[in-house]
Amino acid sequence: MSNPQPVLWSSDEQADGRASEESPEQGRRRSGGGSDAATEPSGEVPPGRPRRHVPVPGPLDGHGPATVLAMCNQKGGVGKTTSTINLGAALAEYGRRVLLVDFDPQGALSVGLGVQPHQLETTIYNLIMERNTTIDDVIRPTSVEGMDLLPSNIDLSAAEVQLVTEVGREQTLGRTIAPVLDRYDYVLVDCQPSLGLLTVNALACADGVLIPLECEFFSLRGVALLMDTIEKVQDRLNPKLEITGILATMYDPRTLHTREVMTRVVEAFGELVFDAVINRTVRFPETTVAGEPITRWASRSTGAEAYRALAREVIAR
Ligand SMILES: Nc1ncnc2c1ncn2[C@@H]1O[C@H](COP(=O)(O)OP(=O)(O)OP(=O)(O)O)[C@@H](O)[C@H]1O
Ligand SMILES: [Mg+2]
Repeated sequence: MSNPQPVLWSSDEQADGRASEESPEQGRRRSGGGSDAATEPSGEVPPGRPRRHVPVPGPLDGHGPATVLAMCNQKGGVGKTTSTINLGAALAEYGRRVLLVDFDPQGALSVGLGVQPHQLETTIYNLIMERNTTIDDVIRPTSVEGMDLLPSNIDLSAAEVQLVTEVGREQTLGRTIAPVLDRYDYVLVDCQPSLGLLTVNALACADGVLIPLECEFFSLRGVALLMDTIEKVQDRLNPKLEITGILATMYDPRTLHTREVMTRVVEAFGELVFDAVINRTVRFPETTVAGEPITRWASRSTGAEAYRALAREVIAR
């Protein structure tokens, strides 16, 4: 396994003090949805480490150019799509303009935002393959103010095959989203569970990779391969690519197993591991059915607060 990158933020940045910690009053003002806060332990921090100070982000004067983050792990079902939706919604709550890119032919990101992929007339596939489709034909607003979606469906799997023979095939996504980067503060690309051409496209245009990692023993195995791919993309296609952070998901503080896995992850990746940890809760599958982010569906739940904490860390990094 490759060594972790150096610490991503300095004590200067921590001391920047643009804003103070969120007051309980601010927290209470967010209402709506149910709450599981009473039944779930909260405030988990990766074991063996004190919580770092992360300022609440201040308002922005203007928007863009966007930081592009690839939400990436070739292991399936680790929370990539869930994290894309909920990090995006939490960033939007902090006044950031966000574009979510569904770059998985399964279209789960689109479904999770209440869009039926098979009913779409235009998707990211048309944008990639047809010259006369413009990005504004495909981008659609979501129920979250300030957050838009570039949807996909199964057609995208054909694009992966067709792109193989194209010149500059790895830069296709980068070319596609370039015209709108100035409008957004963050573009989050939900990758498919593979390290194939679509994922390489996401890595080739990203500023950072955010790796959701399920707190389960076997999930550590795949990370070495992912790091290897990231290094190759850094060398050959995109020197600016960084690892933004590793997000522990499906964390169950009641089991020794997840705590042990978490300890190993922190040993291996140190400061790259976000303080924010996403607990395993049935609230997330519920939100998929509802077609809404947890920040709206269960606004005061532990899960919603965890994604807000993640958003603050992402903005600070
Ligand atoms: N913290 C969590 N606790 C419990 N269930 C979760 C959590 N996060 C995600 N899930 C559920 O686990 C399943 C997989 O999550 P998700 O689709 O986000 O993973 P993924 O990595 O995008 O999967 P794929 O690799 O298939 O794209 C979904 O049913 C989702 O609702
Ligand atoms: Mg997914």
